[in-house]
Amino acid sequence: MKKLRILMDCDTGTDDAIALVCAANTPNVELRAVTTVAGNADLCFTAPNTLNLMRYIGCPVKVSKGAETPIKRVLSEIREKVDEEAGQIDTHGDNGLGGIVLPEAKDGFYPLDAVDTIYEEAKACGGELVIIATGPLTNIANAITKHPELKDGLIKKIVFMGGAAKGGNTTAVAEFNWLCDPEAAHIVLMSGIPCVMVGLDVTEKAEISDEFCDRVRTLRSNGAKVCSEILEFMRARRDTHGGESTLMHDGLALAAAVIPDVVSCRHLFVDAECDGKYTFGHSFVAFDNRLGDFTPNCDVALEVNVKMLEEYMWDCLIRSEEKR
Ligand code: BDR
Ligand code: CA
Repeated sequence: MKKLRILMDCDTGTDDAIALVCAANTPNVELRAVTTVAGNADLCFTAPNTLNLMRYIGCPVKVSKGAETPIKRVLSEIREKVDEEAGQIDTHGDNGLGGIVLPEAKDGFYPLDAVDTIYEEAKACGGELVIIATGPLTNIANAITKHPELKDGLIKKIVFMGGAAKGGNTTAVAEFNWLCDPEAAHIVLMSGIPCVMVGLDVTEKAEISDEFCDRVRTLRSNGAKVCSEILEFMRARRDTHGGESTLMHDGLALAAAVIPDVVSCRHLFVDAECDGKYTFGHSFVAFDNRLGDFTPNCDVALEVNVKMLEEYMWDCLIRSEEKR
């Protein structure tokens, strides 16, 4: 069977890390590259977190450094809002990985930056590349701006975790990844490249059960051990501080690319609110045409099958055991 060729763009990040472990252990996936972006933490954390993680789990994939800042916004200000919303609980810990310290990778980053790695891979895959973005969309937008040919069929699809048809998790109307870089989200959505939005409408329902976490604890591969430590960090944060639970925001975006039936979508028009005084970062989803005559540009995930997600993740983690 032909493998799905994917590039992951991540701000690793606790739940990003779990998604990366699963991506590296999905049998019908060819993980071509991982590009890194600032978001959950500064790039000086998210980039090495990603490289160290991939090597620790025995994955030799190319890892590139990407954008240190969003197109227009100031990350520290956005992260302060997250902490306010979460009652000053640092959602991803001091280093972005829930405090988990991984051994330092023996090799370095891929010599091309994220933008040029995206372009290189898109060309190499001849229109078959699927990008899964689990952080602010800065790198993808910068790649589209620098290499406009990417819009001409070089990318099969962009599946991103971000936005919400209704509500938000960082402000009342904005999800974190979109609040960090609404301008980037706008560029991606307007590019004409097929998009799938895996937003809070589904990811806030994608809560991994305690029973699943307990099962993961019994596994012994490096990948499973990292996932287990992250899940324990999430559970502790939830149980002792009332923080966000074991939500697989980013794992669900990966799953939606690999097993699309895990979510049910509607094809709708989506754009980012970049200018609103109170609403910047909001993902506008046109469920009707009352504000204009909208042409749909995105598959918006509205329902999720959490059991299917858990089964998929479990299969990946079991497979990681072969690498012990
Ligand atoms: C998103 O923000 C980050 O905290 C998570 O990694 C996820 O990508 C959820 O809003
Ligand atoms: Ca993320």
